[in-house]
Amino acid sequence: MFEPQTAGGKVLWHFTMSLDGFVAGPGHSMDWMTGTTFRPGLIDEYASTTGAVLGGRDGWDAYPDPGGIYGGVWKGPLFVLTHHPEDATPTDGATFLDCGPAEAVRIGLEAAGGKNLEVFSPDIGRQLLELGLIDEIDLHIAPVLLGDGIRLYVNPGGPPIRLRGVGTEDPLASVDVRFRPA
Ligand SMILES: NC(=O)c1ccc[n+]([C@@H]2O[C@H](COP(=O)([O-])OP(=O)(O)OC[C@H]3O[C@@H](n4cnc5c(N)ncnc54)[C@H](OP(=O)(O)O)[C@@H]3O)[C@@H](O)[C@H]2O)c1
Repeated sequence: MFEPQTAGGKVLWHFTMSLDGFVAGPGHSMDWMTGTTFRPGLIDEYASTTGAVLGGRDGWDAYPDPGGIYGGVWKGPLFVLTHHPEDATPTDGATFLDCGPAEAVRIGLEAAGGKNLEVFSPDIGRQLLELGLIDEIDLHIAPVLLGDGIRLYVNPGGPPIRLRGVGTEDPLASVDVRFRPA
């Protein structure tokens, strides 16, 4: 039985991902998700457990709309990390931060008020993993192969990051998935 997400002041690296490890297609495209179904109540589960969202400047420039998160069901503070906040269009609900990733997490968790901080960025997630500041990697694997786009994790030359399964009897067990071409 899959354990639903819970609110707990956690830093979550949360994505829908293609089977081959992309969280966005070329040019930040997201249309590959169309037609994917999710477990019942998933949107409400994350809308109710998320207190704040942290993203990066590229994702913001591609989708500059804090009201679009979880299809508009979720309302809350969005923080965008950027080295050049001065040229971002001021937008209600979005705060542009030019600081280190650890400081961004501190600010985001404070704003989340005991709920989770969701990190919507492969780039920032990698930085936070290195700092030991990611509590959970939470993925929904979509039945699609993309072959190109933005990968969940890119760190050439870096060591493997060992993980442990959450809510599984054997935390070191591999996960079996079987698909057929549609
Ligand atoms: N599949 C899903 O469920 C899902 C969910 C959410 C998002 N996404 C996708 O994820 C993609 C995000 O892509 P990404 O990770 O490549 O880009 P990103 O994190 O949105 O943007 C990276 C940029 O953020 C800024 N940045 C990152 N770390 C920083 C730091 N420590 N200090 C200051 N600025 C910093 C830098 O921009 P500057 O130097 O230009 O400021 C950097 O080039 C988007 O396409 C989005 O649609 C997918």
